Amino acid sequence: SGVPRPRLTFLGVGPLGGTYAACYAELGYEVLGYDVDEGRIAKFNAGELPFYERGLDELLVKNLANGRLRFTTDVDEVAEFGDVHFLCVGTPSRADSHSADLSYLESCVTTLAPRLTRRCIIVGKSTVPVGTSSWVQQLIDRHSKPDVDVEVAWSPEFLQESNAVQDVMRPNRVVLAAQSEWAQQLLQAAHKGVFELAAQEDRDVPLVVTDFATAELVKVASNAFLSTKISYINAMADLCEVAGGDVTALARAMGHDDRIGQKFLRAGIGFGGGCLPKDLRALASRAQELGVGESLRFLAEIDEVNTRRRTKAVRLAAELTDREVGPAGPRLDGLRITVLGATFKPETDDIRDSPALDIARRLRNAGAAVTVYDPKGLDNAQVAEPELLYSKPLTEAVDGADLICVLTPWEEFRHLDPVALGELVAHKRILDGMNALDPQLWRNAGWTYRGMGRAAA
Ligand code: UGA
Repeated sequence: SGVPRPRLTFLGVGPLGGTYAACYAELGYEVLGYDVDEGRIAKFNAGELPFYERGLDELLVKNLANGRLRFTTDVDEVAEFGDVHFLCVGTPSRADSHSADLSYLESCVTTLAPRLTRRCIIVGKSTVPVGTSSWVQQLIDRHSKPDVDVEVAWSPEFLQESNAVQDVMRPNRVVLAAQSEWAQQLLQAAHKGVFELAAQEDRDVPLVVTDFATAELVKVASNAFLSTKISYINAMADLCEVAGGDVTALARAMGHDDRIGQKFLRAGIGFGGGCLPKDLRALASRAQELGVGESLRFLAEIDEVNTRRRTKAVRLAAELTDREVGPAGPRLDGLRITVLGATFKPETDDIRDSPALDIARRLRNAGAAVTVYDPKGLDNAQVAEPELLYSKPLTEAVDGADLICVLTPWEEFRHLDPVALGELVAHKRILDGMNALDPQLWRNAGWTYRGMGRAAA
């Protein structure tokens, strides 16, 4: 379009920054990705992804080859290169509380700021407690050269792992906050590629230009709302179970009202991953700090409903195998249980706060010998939970099992043949943790089937 594009850097190239870097190069920007992790940077520069994300490998290889994309561990290079620096580092929960640990963010800013030699903006994308941007500006002011204009700006991201490339290239909204007019213009120029692509494809991308507090809040408020939807339907699942209803039919019927919508009403073993659980707790904790803890007290309940799904899955495993549930929980000694799924959701290799893996651990702690199979998550799972057994292919993992638990709804599990599988196991019992299977199909093949929020047959 003739307007010069700013050069972009992405600091922290995990699943968020790595995806952004490759996608924005694809959108036509010159991009430099930065990370302190040398192994990660070496992989990226060699055209290999250090994590799995559908469709990202092609964009990486293509844009490395055309020269628009590079990766470095050298922060001087970053300072020299960029007009717009995106902060994409992680903000995990603190070890001692539920609030967010901002130390990666802090070290990123204080390392970069003193090296900046020309006017530029530092844009927050990491998920943070409301109020963080003004703290970042203070850090910048304290650490940058006095004669260099450096402003903080904010633009939260909403990408979902496994759909991240789409979410970055074709976002459902762009939210921007900046202080001065020049910073606002630079920030918009850094996102122009997204709007140009939308125009080419005859789509609209809603643009929300707002204040800093709102921009910071959009992210956590959205994530907490999604968590609330999931816990709501999981609470209904308990009700369905005792009343003889079917929560999948209930969710579908509710979702036809487009004020409610079909999405994020899938009942099962609850939400996990690197974002929803930690963001929920961080938001509650920040609200408390700001004196409105009471207003958000229900979030603690959302969290508890979610955690109870995991204990519930273990109890159902005991029920299915005719084990007593004592006061200390069920005992599953002597049982061989196969867990299908280790990742926190399908189409990723991410096992952070995975409900599936947590349930596998709980089954093992209750005395069972647990074998795990997952299409993409086995390597990560093995490192995180070395006490569990791992096996592939799937047919080997289910061999001689007393119970199969399908805990991550991978597409390949939906197409399992209950008749063929029945030949391999010791007992035809199946727990369908995310209601991914057709109960009738399995029951017709002689299996004892249990879903979540569906009455036992
Ligand atoms: C989530 C949000 O959906 C993104 O919008 C956000 O940008 C991202 O966090 C983030 O903060 O970076 P993600 O963690 O990739 O994305 O995963 P989701 O697809 O949201 O799934 C989260 C968990 O909820 C999974 O364990 C999934 O199985 C569970 N879930 C999801 C349900 O139990 N039921 C549902 O109906 C939907």
